[in-house]
Amino acid sequence: MLERVDIRTIASSYGETVTLQGWLYNKRSSGKLHFLQLRDGTGVIQCVVFKGDVEEDVFEAAGHLTQESAIRVTGEVRKDERSPLGFEIGVSALEVMHQAEPYPITPKEHGTAFLMDHRHLWLRSSRQHTILTIRSTIVAACRDYYDTNGFTLIDAPIFTPNACEGTTTLFATDYFGEDAYLTQSGQLYVEAGAMAFGKVYCFGPTFRAEKSKTRRHLTEFWMVEPEVAYMDLDGDMDLAEDFISFIVERVLNRHRADLEALERDVEALERTQKPFPRISYTEAVDLLKEKGVDHPWGEDFGGDEETVLAASFDRPVIVHHYPAACKAFYMKADPADSRVALCMDVLAPEGYGEIVGGGQREDDLEELRRKIAEHDLDEEPFNWYLDLRRYGSVPHAGFGLGIERTVAWICGLRHVRETIPFPRMLQRLTP
Ligand code: 4AD
Ligand code: MG
Repeated sequence: MLERVDIRTIASSYGETVTLQGWLYNKRSSGKLHFLQLRDGTGVIQCVVFKGDVEEDVFEAAGHLTQESAIRVTGEVRKDERSPLGFEIGVSALEVMHQAEPYPITPKEHGTAFLMDHRHLWLRSSRQHTILTIRSTIVAACRDYYDTNGFTLIDAPIFTPNACEGTTTLFATDYFGEDAYLTQSGQLYVEAGAMAFGKVYCFGPTFRAEKSKTRRHLTEFWMVEPEVAYMDLDGDMDLAEDFISFIVERVLNRHRADLEALERDVEALERTQKPFPRISYTEAVDLLKEKGVDHPWGEDFGGDEETVLAASFDRPVIVHHYPAACKAFYMKADPADSRVALCMDVLAPEGYGEIVGGGQREDDLEELRRKIAEHDLDEEPFNWYLDLRRYGSVPHAGFGLGIERTVAWICGLRHVRETIPFPRMLQRLTP
């Protein structure tokens, strides 16, 4: 393991002389003192350079340091009651690794487009740093949840011949003369995995050519997708609420101060406790009507409807049994009413919209073939998938949770563009 002193754990070096390596976050000088705010990626600490303590040229160099210059600082770890960290460094030596050019991101206000163009630098800002730290925890929590609950990781391919979520959002690419698409979802492959391993999940980037500019859509986003053999829609909803409460609890345990720094209403998050309310699509349409929104039965909900629905609940709400006609081809129809599908969405509270989509899969060969045709899909690329209904077909279910929307909700961010290190959107391919 790499041995070095991190600012995050500086307390354990109290009284010792340490060397920290990082970048200059900010600087203030007064007479014989330079106060350097040093950032090392794990935290920020004040380093005090006193003229009497260092060589003259070092004091001079410290005075000329520009924002984001790379420096190595040696000094004693002292108590400092005024700093949030409780410690500061009394500098005895300073090495300038690189004197930075004038830094484009300054403490003044910048527009979003400017910041997005400088995303590779913007990542260093404290707010972005906090968000991406929480994202990292959320991703680890997803893996931990499945790894410790008997699921096997089955990675799905990125290149695929199949349209899983409709043909309108496919990114097509040339695969040695054959048509291939960037995957919209690993679902079809984890279904194969579930028949081999029972309980599986995949976790990777997924792609959709979303042509609409909304605050909830990226063209490249990450999805975690569990799939379980011999599980029905009820089991699927149980799994989703257990999983989501686990993630939120993990973040609350580890990032309370970070959430507060983001001005997230932590109490609202604390209400993310099982069981989540469950309502059918039909009940949801009635609820919308009560709230003054006339929504024609049969049409899928958009962001606006989801926001109105979620506002009636203090925690995520599960909406189930959507009309089959507005959902994907693989969904199993309700045996009691074939107009609706055995599917569900989880809507996050406070207007963050759908974070989970899933349900029970059609397990009958002929029914599935009929649906593929009904959705105007060519059957040939689905032949392997149909095999799963030819050799030991069983009821099975699963869902996909979108990481970016989950991060947006948990961190309380208006737009998903800040939830991923390098967002890809309709008009954004750089950096
Ligand atoms: O509801 P979706 O389309 O479901 C599926 O893809 C299923 N095949 C998953 C499964 O059952 N295994 O997408 C699932 C989730 C959504 O609830 C949302 O959180 C996220 O993926 N999502 C997006 N996130 C960001 N940008 C987009 N363009 C997204 N599209 C879907
Ligand atoms: Mg969906």
